[in-house]
Amino acid sequence: HDLSRANTLGLPCVAERYCAPATLDALLEALDLAQRRHWSLTVLGGGSNLILPERLRGLVVQPAMRRWWLEEQGESVLVHAEAAMGWHELVMTLASLGLWGTENLALIPGHCGAAPIQNIGAYGVELSDVLEAVHLVHLDDGREAVLTAADCAFGYRASVFKGALDGRVVITRLVLRLSRTPRPRLGYGDLARRLDAEPSALAVAQAVCAIRREKLPDPEVLGNAGSFFKNPLVSGEHARRLLADHPAMPHFPQPDGRVKLAAGWLIDRSGLKGWREGHFGVHDRQALVLVHFGGGSADELLAFAGEVAARVRECFGVILEREPRMAHE
Ligand code: EPU
Repeated sequence: HDLSRANTLGLPCVAERYCAPATLDALLEALDLAQRRHWSLTVLGGGSNLILPERLRGLVVQPAMRRWWLEEQGESVLVHAEAAMGWHELVMTLASLGLWGTENLALIPGHCGAAPIQNIGAYGVELSDVLEAVHLVHLDDGREAVLTAADCAFGYRASVFKGALDGRVVITRLVLRLSRTPRPRLGYGDLARRLDAEPSALAVAQAVCAIRREKLPDPEVLGNAGSFFKNPLVSGEHARRLLADHPAMPHFPQPDGRVKLAAGWLIDRSGLKGWREGHFGVHDRQALVLVHFGGGSADELLAFAGEVAARVRECFGVILEREPRMAHE
């Protein structure tokens, strides 16, 4: 099964076996079969934060359950969304209904089921701000479970699904808590400047879409996986030394005394914005995004990313960590 079009980086990949279960029962059947045949399992969502190898052995499971529904709960509304529902589609639907909480997360590609893995975040909001529960199935024995937000151990682009549960579960449904009471969060960047004093949730979502379209390449046009690196945390001392030389450097002090830097700014100031080598490049409008011009492979991408990280380390002494996940052969 060809997965070249199932990953937004557009990397070539062929899976030995593939299935897209549209019900929970079909998913459990597939897991049971894989267990009995000793096939290794890879779970695929929208493929928008993923680096695929040229061959994937065993079975690739791409959940295809995509129902969603609302559950009124007094002032708030619980939103249930199955794994294969498109995240952006859900956000726009909820914003149109006047429900508040996810509007800042508009235009993030991918499926709902993948959103908790990296705790998607943008414009001052993270999924963990609205997430109530995650329904999942264990890959080894088909056991179903429901995790609370606390169980998910969320952090910046981090969760239990990248830690203790990495490669061990498939997420089947999210439960989000949204509000009917307006609560716009417009503190990030120039979001407020683009909106009225009392914007609707839909207006906020549309403003976020407009900002993202200005900077981020459309994966349909140019292969990419969004931010390729996480924004790095450095010690207060390291940040002070850098600020002495670069007073305009964006920096965000954290509660623990460390300071978060903007990886995009560091790559940009290392002179790499728009740099291209072979089939890959640093995006010319947002240096944090690596782009694939076509014809390249995962190995070339990792080599290219390694050169970017090495240059930033030389210039600023800061180590960049990769953000998209690797699927293993
Ligand atoms: N900057 C530059 N040059 C660049 C890119 C950025 O100087 O080429 C500067 C900007 O001017 C700004 C700072 O760096 O002062 C931060 O840039 P921006 O606000 O664009 O956000 P970011 O830190 O680059 C993060 C997330 C994005 C998210 C935006 C908005 C990470 C790794 N990335 O990017 O998430 O959309 O904030 O909240 O945290 C993603 O994870 O795939 C993603 C796109």
